[in-house]
Amino acid sequence: MSKVTQIGHPLILHKLAFIRDKNTGSKDFRELVEEVSMLMAYEVTRDLQMEDVEIETPICKTTCKMLSGKKMAIVPILRAGLGMVDGMLKLIPAAKVGHVGLYRDEETLQPVEYFCKMPQDIAERDVIVVDPMLATGGSAADALTILKKRGAKNLRLVCLISSPEGIKMVSDAHPDVDIYVASIDEKLNEKGYIVPGLGDAGDRLFGTK
Ligand code: PRP
Ligand code: URA
Repeated sequence: MSKVTQIGHPLILHKLAFIRDKNTGSKDFRELVEEVSMLMAYEVTRDLQMEDVEIETPICKTTCKMLSGKKMAIVPILRAGLGMVDGMLKLIPAAKVGHVGLYRDEETLQPVEYFCKMPQDIAERDVIVVDPMLATGGSAADALTILKKRGAKNLRLVCLISSPEGIKMVSDAHPDVDIYVASIDEKLNEKGYIVPGLGDAGDRLFGTK
């Protein structure tokens, strides 16, 4: 079973309330999604491997901790995942960015792949998949499968808002993938939207519809 971490930091929950508000326009929505993503990156990277390094301060020699693990990649699920990339990169600036394009068929709710471009060394990197919404879980599960087919082994999924159904779906399909969310909402409605959710993340980010 996936390890599921709900990051209930007060700053994240405060910003999430504005993100959910239907009166928040695209400019503020984009800025808030970026800010929350940056705050989530802090928690998502909490267990990165460290090593001791010798350095010399102006006063004396000392031993410090530095990151020692593998290089990282951030993979947004297009389109809405794009809104989380810059926030993540603020804390992990050396990460490479891959893109996977999936849209959810409005009738069947099944994800349809239309784009995939990964760093050539993706199999050697720790990968953070980002998407603001984990609804049925179909898009995230497919994105993780696509990445595994390309050799990625150490994967994490980071979403702002999730449903219990989406978490179960991803956890069943990818028990090895840790899931980080800011909120686990109540349920999905008959159209597959998260309740209370925030509406359509892609449309709100990019002002479409
Ligand atoms: C949204 C969202 C997720 C997906 C979640 O994308 O950003 O990728 O739906 O739904 P699921 O868990 O039921 O698969 P959408 O398909 O609307 O595409 P967009 O980002 O281009 O708007
Ligand atoms: N995709 C969204 O953007 N919002 C939802 O609530 C569900 C899927």
